[in-house]
Formats: sequence, structure tokens, C-alpha cells
Amino acid sequence: MANTSVAPVEHSTERRERFRSSRTAHFTESVIREMTRLAVMHGAVNLAQGFPDFPAPANLKDAACEAILADFNQYPITWGTKPFRAAIAAKYQRTYALEFDPEREITVCCGSTEGMIASLLATTNPGDEIIIFEPYYENYHPDTLLCGASRKLVSLRAPDWTFDREELRAAFSKNTKAIIINTPNNPTGKVFTLDELTFIADLCQEFDALAITDEIYEHITYEGRQHVPIISLPGMRDRSILINSLSKTYSVTGWRVGWVLGAPDLTDSIRKVHDFLTVGAATPLQQAGVLALSQPDSYYSDLSEHYRQRRDALVEILEGAGLKTIHPYGAYYVMADISSFGYPNDIAFVKHLIENVGVAAVPGSSFFEDPRKGDKYIRFCFCKKYETLEEARTRLRRL
Ligand SMILES: Cc1ncc(COP(=O)(O)O)c(C=O)c1O
Repeated sequence: MANTSVAPVEHSTERRERFRSSRTAHFTESVIREMTRLAVMHGAVNLAQGFPDFPAPANLKDAACEAILADFNQYPITWGTKPFRAAIAAKYQRTYALEFDPEREITVCCGSTEGMIASLLATTNPGDEIIIFEPYYENYHPDTLLCGASRKLVSLRAPDWTFDREELRAAFSKNTKAIIINTPNNPTGKVFTLDELTFIADLCQEFDALAITDEIYEHITYEGRQHVPIISLPGMRDRSILINSLSKTYSVTGWRVGWVLGAPDLTDSIRKVHDFLTVGAATPLQQAGVLALSQPDSYYSDLSEHYRQRRDALVEILEGAGLKTIHPYGAYYVMADISSFGYPNDIAFVKHLIENVGVAAVPGSSFFEDPRKGDKYIRFCFCKKYETLEEARTRLRRL
């Protein structure tokens, strides 16, 4: 009788290696998503992964349901539905007086995650160098591995997360294809200043490199810090790729709708990669995205204020528990210095936090290439309900 068992078979190491591409050989599991799994397993309050635990805006949910019922359910134009691209163009015109041609300069994709990898695959070749500020959002590392590009890291130095201009200049060379800039920044909360961005823009022009920016926290800034898209600076319109998404600004991280803006020649290559990677982002959610991008200015000031209050609440809770926090001026994370607790490293501390205290955070080392550089930090997020933050306060008393 035929063997109909579907149980997974344990394969030899040799076979596993044969079918593992060299592109993925150096991948590690996402530490952030691993922390979420551990948090679920131990019933810990999840202050690890950056997604809101409060409801998404009701009008957006209604718009998404209506779009499905109105039968916006088939493949979209691969680079985005016309109304959504028009809404993106209108939003950048309104917010920054930037003009983007929806027909030739906008690509809608599955979140900024896809936007980043599609942009890198479209513009870099194996052997190119990509400059990344460290600590960095963890995806940038595997993104460069998938492209076969090498990373040049430049430190953002605590507590104000500034960079050394000479170190940055030294990182640029004739092999530099691009620099990735994430502002407002995850995990540090740094908002790059106009002066810093001007310095970077000058280097991009001097070394004929692209600036690829991840701006998904653009509307989450505090104490009057202003987000500046580097693409708006002189000489940068044709050498910047701006990546953004609905995820954080509209509290819909699961919708997976983002966009990439860039000059027509860059967009042309990005669209080709995007088409074959994913075809397109969900049609009904793009339809609802039109409403999202048409929110009045007060929506964005309320968003910042809402997160400022949560930031202040979490900082107070962490400081009360003896954790030394580093003040964030943007995004929705706070880094804490754990050196005074005497744990061997950040991983041991976070494990203790999840398993015995009941609060999940992300080990700082996951934002650094050399884990030792980040092992005295852990990152908490505050895009959570006040009840969640209060529950964390109660549990952190066990620290
Ligand atoms: C800096 C940064 N970029 C990108 C992402 C993922 O964005 P998206 O949901 O648009 O793919 C995150 C999510 O936490 C992030 O922090």
C-alpha cells in the first residue's frame, strides 16, 4: 500500500544545504517577530513589535468593507490603482509642495517592506556598497543580502544619536550605490535635522549615490521636530527614492499597502521588480487608502499628540521601574539602557522580562551587526492602549 503519511520528514544536513540558497544562508529569524511569539507563549504584555493594539480608524474600516462590497476585488494595475496614485500625489503636493507624476513616478506596493527590497533590487548590483546608519531597522540587513550588496555601517551615537560627519564621509566611495535613511528613526526615535540631511545630500551628489528613505513615521514627531524628505532638498529630486506606507500613520499595519516615489527612470525599474514580486497590493485596501490620504491636517497633529502622551506615559513607567530611557523625538519606540541591572546581555535581560516579569521588549543587539554594540539596550514600543501600558506598569514592579 502507498505511504500516504504527510508528516514532515527530517532531512539530512547535506540535503538541507543543497536546497538552501546562498542568498538566505546568513539570514537569521526576525528577532522582533520571535519576541512576539515568545510574548504570546508566556502571556506577556507585548511592547516588542510595533503594531497598535487599539482599533484602526472606523472610517477606514468602513471604506475597506465598502470597497469589497462594491467589487474592487480583482488585480489592480500593477503599480497601483489610479485613484490611489492620484491621492498619493495630492498628499505630497499638500504636505510638502512636492509634485509626483502618478503615471511615471509612483509605485504602490505591499507595504514599505516590499518597497525597500524592490527599490534595492531595482537599483543595485552584487558588489555595490550600501551605507546604513546603525542601529538600524532589522530588515535592511537581509535586504542587502538578497541584493548581494555589501553594507557600510555608520554609527548613530547615543544619547542624541548623532553621527560623526567624518565617519560618514569616509564610508562613501566610488562603489557606494545608495544610502538608506530612516527618519523618524526606528529604533532610536531620532529625527534627522535639515542640516544633517543637507550634509548627506551633498555626499550623495559628490559620490553619485542614491538616497533611499524609509519615511513611515513621517507624521509621528514630538517637541516641534519637523520631518524633512531628503527628496525635497536641492539636487536630490532625481537621486532619491522615497518609501512610505499606510501602516503607521493610519494604524493599519496588516493592510500591507505602501508606495515608492522616484524619478521616472528609477520608477521604471522598481515597477518591473514589483510586478514580478507581488503583482500588486490589495485592490480594496488601495481604494480605502484614498480616504486615508485625504484626512484633514488635524488628523496628523492629533496622531502626534496621541503618541506623545503615550510616550510620556511609557517613559514614566520605565523610569519608575529603574530603566534609564533615551528620549525619542519621533516614531513610537523608546530605547532603555539596562547596564545597571547587571545581566550578561540584552537577550538574557529580555528573556527574564518576558518569562518572569511578563513584559516583552526587543533586545537592542538585534539592531546592530555586531551584537556587542547593542547589548546594553532594549527597545519598547508605545503604540498601545493605556490599559496595556498600565498592565506593563503593574508587571514591571516585579523587576
Ligand atoms: C523603519 C520601518 N520600516 C518599515 C517597517 C515596515 O513597514 P510596512 O508595514 O510598511 O511594511 C517598519 C515596521 O515596524 C519600520 O519600523
